[in-house]
Amino acid sequence: MYNTGKIIAGLVVFFILATLPFLLNLGKANAKIEPSIDTPEINAMPKKHCVEPKAFMRSEHMQLLNNWRDQVVRNGNRIYVGSDGNEYPISLQNTCMKCHANKKKFCDKCHNYMAVKPYCWGCHIAPKENEA
Ligand code: HEC
Ligand code: HEC
Ligand code: HEC
Repeated sequence: MYNTGKIIAGLVVFFILATLPFLLNLGKANAKIEPSIDTPEINAMPKKHCVEPKAFMRSEHMQLLNNWRDQVVRNGNRIYVGSDGNEYPISLQNTCMKCHANKKKFCDKCHNYMAVKPYCWGCHIAPKENEA
């Protein structure tokens, strides 16, 4: 047929357009997630640190939060002493979220990426943020 060439060209164009979004995303699939620590509270710290070292926080913050809750609810203890000797009031809202006031660019950034949805914010108050 005399227009086979056009049909094939059409199919090639269609194939490229259909897979383009996928091709463009290839790079992003492995992109490193960079949770932002750009908040007034953290920027004001002379030496930026979390309640525990970063690597520990990254992998263990869920257990730490469970432990914090048990400390308050079961033991009535509201002070946490970090491994570096610093003391913090045990509070998700007033301690974690005071430093990490950018929940959307910090907590949510990782959680969305990993498709985890902590159910805490039905009861605990999330920081107020301007962006949607
Ligand atoms: C005093 C301010 C402060 C408090 C309070 C605080 N953080 Fe952090 N957090 C930081 C800073 C600063 C970093 C980055 C540390 C670094 O780069 O070494 C960080 C890092 C982290 C990380 C690792 C991020 C990454 O990129 O791997 C997690 C997770 C985290 N914090 C969660 C929490 C949770 C949960 C709480 C409450 C239990 C909390 N933080 C309390 C300041 C704080
Ligand atoms: C560096 C990435 C990262 C950051 C930043 C981060 N999280 Fe997470 N968080 C995770 C991952 C990954 C999981 C799932 C871990 C698992 O299932 O073992 C998780 C799980 C949790 C859980 C347990 C949820 C569940 O349903 O089991 C809580 C609670 C939580 N995060 C709170 C926070 C809070 C609060 C912040 C911000 C202050 C925060 N996380 C910041 C990566 C992160
Ligand atoms: C059904 C409501 C509810 C949900 C959901 C909930 N909490 Fe709580 N949480 C409470 C109450 C009530 C207290 C006790 C408050 C107090 O005595 O200060 C508490 C206390 C805590 C405390 C210690 C005190 C404080 O103010 O932070 C932590 C830490 C905590 N919860 C973490 C979490 C995390 C992490 C999640 C999600 C994985 C979560 N909670 C989900 C109701 C809830």
